[in-house]
Amino acid sequence: MKRILIVIFIFIGIAGLNMASAADEKMHHGNHHHDMSMMDTRTSLELSAEMKQHQLSNMREHLDAINSIVGLMSENKFEDASKVARNRLGLTPEMQKMCSMFGNEKFMALGMAFHKSGDDLGDALQTKDINTSLRALNKTMQYCVTCHAAYRQ
Ligand code: HEC
Repeated sequence: MKRILIVIFIFIGIAGLNMASAADEKMHHGNHHHDMSMMDTRTSLELSAEMKQHQLSNMREHLDAINSIVGLMSENKFEDASKVARNRLGLTPEMQKMCSMFGNEKFMALGMAFHKSGDDLGDALQTKDINTSLRALNKTMQYCVTCHAAYRQ
């Protein structure tokens, strides 16, 4: 009889612990829900499904271009890096067209300024000076950061 009672008490104890941790978890969830940092306050571009895909693949191209530039710089291939900057980040007619498709003036202006900085990066890389090049790369990447902080699809 004594043994049975002990077993029952242990069971009750375990069940109680489980309930307490479930309540704890629920509270955590609740807190997250009301956490302001979890709310996306960026301006939506209200893109169509097709435009979304188009934009994201363009963006992945931008990231790939930055990666290529950094890689080429590390191998002292400044001429090649300069070409990548101009052709893939610069203000080419394609990029101009792309940026003007979003129907948002401020977004377009930011996009144009970003691509202009891509051409400036091309100029900086042509000097073959590492610090001049890094300063220009930093400026271009600040546009990535600024725009992502302000806009979402
Ligand atoms: C003028 C605005 C603007 C600039 C400049 C910009 N982006 Fe974006 N990017 C966006 C928007 C808008 C999205 C979609 C974000 C969202 O909806 O959360 C995006 C998304 C992305 C994504 C996600 C792609 C995916 O497949 O999910 C990557 C990667 C990215 N950008 C890289 C870059 C890089 C690298 C640069 C700079 C070299 C850059 N972007 C510059 C506006 C911009």
